Amino acid sequence: MTDTMTQPTTSASPQPGSGGRVFSGVQPSGLPHVGNHLGAFSNYIAMQDGFESIYCIVDYHALTSTHDAEVIRTATTEMALGLLALGLDPEKAVLFRQSDRLEHIELMWLLASVTPMGWVERTPSFKEKRRNQPDDVNLALFNYPVLQAADIAIYKADYVPVGKDQAAHLELAREIVRAFNTRYGETFPEPQAVFSDAPIVKGTDGENKMSKSLGNVIEIFADEETIRRQVMSMVTDTQRQRLSDPGRPEVCNVCQMHRIFSPDDYEEIWEGERSATTGCVATKSLLVERMLGYFGEARERYAELKAKPQIVEEVLAAGADTLAPRAAETLAECHDRMGLAPRR
Ligand code: TYM
Repeated sequence: MTDTMTQPTTSASPQPGSGGRVFSGVQPSGLPHVGNHLGAFSNYIAMQDGFESIYCIVDYHALTSTHDAEVIRTATTEMALGLLALGLDPEKAVLFRQSDRLEHIELMWLLASVTPMGWVERTPSFKEKRRNQPDDVNLALFNYPVLQAADIAIYKADYVPVGKDQAAHLELAREIVRAFNTRYGETFPEPQAVFSDAPIVKGTDGENKMSKSLGNVIEIFADEETIRRQVMSMVTDTQRQRLSDPGRPEVCNVCQMHRIFSPDDYEEIWEGERSATTGCVATKSLLVERMLGYFGEARERYAELKAKPQIVEEVLAAGADTLAPRAAETLAECHDRMGLAPRR
């Protein structure tokens, strides 16, 4: 795999080796897609070198909209498998399943007590979900961002690699821990988002964020034919009607992806589009080849891991065990500050 994505960028610009703890979470939505990887996972993997890193499959969060036990179970395993295949190394980073560490839920309650409802009501993701699932606006959905803040705060994380679509949640998490610190004394660091240089990856429709629920994804671990079909279906520069029209790489999603997948010659590719010497079909075909090359090792690792599914379960269980003392310590401190029972 190329390492073009391995330099995390953020307003905070955390330097490897400078200390600090990293946490991030991903919903169990099955095998990862290109948006997950470019927006967030590439930084998960980059930051496991030089930072203490913790990554979580947030199955409690998934309950806010998925109510099928088998779907959650299978999608959790697939997401973990995908992360391991992409290079998340359990020797360097902790990977675990949220429902293995009940302390997240306990801290959520404590943080809920410092969170005004208006903060959550104003969160764009809550408004969006309320629109998308009007018959299922459950209390857990309302609590979603508070649980997300608890995920981060329970390990006192400093940095959170995420895509830009999570920026509002991160801002809310910062406000929530600030409110706790103000009321009960300095307890939690204010976590900082870390964005990659592809912070929002558009889907094959060229318009919306790449997302499984919108059906506009390019899969990473599908068979080559599926990937080819997905890439060839990508919407390009809609103003370019015929080959002789000059293309506009700045607005073309395919060209933007070449910036990541063809780091050495994307400028030539862009020039071919601008000068109308290359057509969209050729540029897409090249993208298929480049993507398959970029993800070649990961796809091989995926095939190996898929044959040994018990490894995934072992990694998740060991990850949760490793975190037990740290989660307990944070809760004990909160109980003490809040006048609750000493934790035994
Ligand atoms: P989720 O599961 O939707 O996505 C996981 C990660 O992938 C990123 N991502 C994208 N980035 C760029 N372009 C895209 N098209 C794209 N699609 C997905 C997301 O930004 C995210 O980083 N609420 C979170 C999960 C969560 C969490 C946390 C994250 C729960 N607790 C604590 C950070 C810290 C979510 O639903 O991510």
